[in-house]
Amino acid sequence: MGVPRLLCRCSSVLAVVGLVLNVAGLCNGGITSSFVRKVEKTIDMPLDSDVFSVPPGYNAPQQVHITQGDHVGEAMIVSWVTVDEPGSDTVLYWSENSKQKKEAKGRVTTYKFYNYTSGYIHHCTIWKLKFNTKYYYEVGNGHTMRTFWFTTPPEVGPDVPYTFGLIGDLGQSFDSNITLNHYEFNPTEGKTVLFVGDLSYADNYPNHDNVRWDTWGRFTERSAAYQPWIWTAGNHEIDFAPEIGETKPFKPYSHRYQVPYKASNSTAPFWYSIKRASAYIIVLSSYSAYGKYTPQYKWLEAELPKVNRSETPWLIVLMHSPWYNSYNYHYMEGETMRVMYEPWFVRYKVDVVFAGHVHAYERSERVSNIAYNVMNGICSPVSDQSAPVYITIGDGGNLEGLATNMTEPQPKYSAFREASFGHAIFDIKNRTHAYYGWHRNQDGYAVEADSLWFFNRFWHPVDDSTSAQS
Ligand SMILES: *[C@@H]1O[C@H](CO)[C@@H](O)[C@H](O)[C@H]1NC(C)=O
Ligand SMILES: *[C@@H]1O[C@H](CO)[C@@H](O)[C@H](O)[C@H]1NC(C)=O
Ligand SMILES: *[C@@H]1O[C@H](CO)[C@@H](O)[C@H](O)[C@H]1NC(C)=O
Ligand SMILES: *[C@@H]1O[C@H](CO)[C@@H](O)[C@H](O)[C@H]1NC(C)=O
Ligand SMILES: *[C@@H]1O[C@H](CO)[C@@H](O)[C@H](O)[C@H]1NC(C)=O
Ligand SMILES: *[C@@H]1O[C@H](CO)[C@@H](O)[C@H](O)[C@H]1NC(C)=O
Ligand SMILES: [Fe+2]
Repeated sequence: MGVPRLLCRCSSVLAVVGLVLNVAGLCNGGITSSFVRKVEKTIDMPLDSDVFSVPPGYNAPQQVHITQGDHVGEAMIVSWVTVDEPGSDTVLYWSENSKQKKEAKGRVTTYKFYNYTSGYIHHCTIWKLKFNTKYYYEVGNGHTMRTFWFTTPPEVGPDVPYTFGLIGDLGQSFDSNITLNHYEFNPTEGKTVLFVGDLSYADNYPNHDNVRWDTWGRFTERSAAYQPWIWTAGNHEIDFAPEIGETKPFKPYSHRYQVPYKASNSTAPFWYSIKRASAYIIVLSSYSAYGKYTPQYKWLEAELPKVNRSETPWLIVLMHSPWYNSYNYHYMEGETMRVMYEPWFVRYKVDVVFAGHVHAYERSERVSNIAYNVMNGICSPVSDQSAPVYITIGDGGNLEGLATNMTEPQPKYSAFREASFGHAIFDIKNRTHAYYGWHRNQDGYAVEADSLWFFNRFWHPVDDSTSAQS
């Protein structure tokens, strides 16, 4: 066992300097961070907080947010809410170098939830944008106008650098505000947020007080109006409350947050894909049927073979409930979906899977657990260089507080875990290299508490002995 032990020691020493050699399966567990966060109560910001203030002016648009509007990044969905009257559905927009304003027409919707009635929720898709271009846009035509801007991604291609932020389970506590600040001030500027589910936590209030959906929309506007947030549905989006007559799952979420699911031939907004720069992003729903023959299953089965790694070398999957999780919270909740889809993730060499749900941070080794067939008893995760790295980033800071209780000893599949709030950055350099870093809220904006170079296994095949650090 001389060699594995040596590799093992390398692994822990290098982890300290932030470069982790993947020797999954050889080591006896990974690293449980020695950083111990001061345990304080996580409380929601009160309704009169500055971050929830309503913009001034009659019928002023509020809760402005954007997301990708098509499959390749030439369209943007702009959403906002007006409260006094429906007002205009039109978005005026123009590119940085042009003075000529163009118009896109949207539509308005409302919904009721128990005794709450929503404002007028507008969604407008702007089509045929130019790649890699800064656009200004205005909403509130005819009444109070507000101006925002965004930059479209570069055209899809294998060597296009692009920087994604990762945020999950954000909520609207004082800690949520700190997480968002750290994301905004991170010197490695994220250009698009991949959000892994659990947005407002309004459902923790009596009757799922949907006023907390509105406050969340106003709180996150400072980022989500200027860069797309790519949405994943979490359990706090279900809002299933038969005790008050609310039996349509995802009602507030799907009225407020639109996604371009039809562009990837999905039949529901809870699972879909987009391409953005050099990445192919597949969003799955832990809370929609995923068994064999279901719409999500059939969609994913047809979807994975479509990913062309010569065009988009980086294949990223987002879901809410993690498959590899060594905290004593939501333990094994992702297990049935893992059983269904993990063989595909290995076959198609998914680079990384980001999940939330567990309110802490964890990164796995490259492992798989796909040999079990009821009779053979082979049911432990094994080192597998074709497998994704699984990252739990459910540490946005919501009012439910941190998950601190971990299973002991740390399982072999777990490379690094820490119970702190934070966010992560996935920084694609080119077709072979991407740099990943996790930032805890207690540190300075530039500090990484965990990091890893990803070597793309399609463009950078390596033999397992010297092994792709990921
Ligand atoms: C909804 O009902 C709750 C109690 O059932 C009450 O406290 C609240 O004020 C009501 N909200 C509205 C908008 O009527
Ligand atoms: C939230 O963070 C912003 C930016 O730092 C700050 O201006 C604001 O006062 C904070 N609000 C609360 C309620 O913590
Ligand atoms: C969706 O289906 C249509 C018709 O089969 C096909 O032309 C198109 O390429 C598909 N789009 C995606 C993104 O798979
Ligand atoms: C995959 O993408 C490359 C680069 O864009 C392109 O040349 C090739 O034709 C694509 N392959 C398929 C099967 O579409
Ligand atoms: C941690 O979780 C385990 C398993 O659920 C439980 O037995 C134990 O009491 C918990 N420990 C603490 C300190 O909560
Ligand atoms: C890809 O990026 C890595 C890291 O920045 C760099 O070392 C490498 O030279 C780049 N490869 C190419 C072909 O530019
Ligand atoms: Fe959750």
